[in-house]
Amino acid sequence: MKILVANGPNLNLTGLRDPQFYGSDTLETINSELKKEFPAMSFEFFQTNSEGELIGKVQSVREGDTDGIILNAGALSHYSYALRDAIAAVRKPVVEVHLSQVFSREEFRRTSVISEVCKGTITGFGKYSYFAAAFALGGILKR
Ligand code: DQA
Repeated sequence: MKILVANGPNLNLTGLRDPQFYGSDTLETINSELKKEFPAMSFEFFQTNSEGELIGKVQSVREGDTDGIILNAGALSHYSYALRDAIAAVRKPVVEVHLSQVFSREEFRRTSVISEVCKGTITGFGKYSYFAAAFALGGILKR
């Protein structure tokens, strides 16, 4: 099972910025723990600060052999209709994840324009949001 773990703007600063919201582990640490937790899965890790690059990456999954996507789109989750359209077109399950509990933060974070086109959303469990998403994808993709 091949899973793309895609992270959007500012997620490269995970572990360095606002640890009260995002924890103290770096994205590299989270990624390597994910690999250890789910040895049967083949992960591709991707991070970009660019909306266009993230859309391009999501689009690439449409035709490739990737089975599903774990997506932390960062602030793009709250306003990017272009990303939403890319997810809607991908035809593979996408799990929206957030490290922080977005519903207990600023008002603008309580809206996600991508949730509706994602298979599900996991928010507020820090790095375990990614683990929970991998577990869920593994379950629904198992044949
Ligand atoms: C985030 C939440 C977003 O509101 C924020 O813009 C981020 C990170 C999270 O993982 O909690 O960059 O997606």
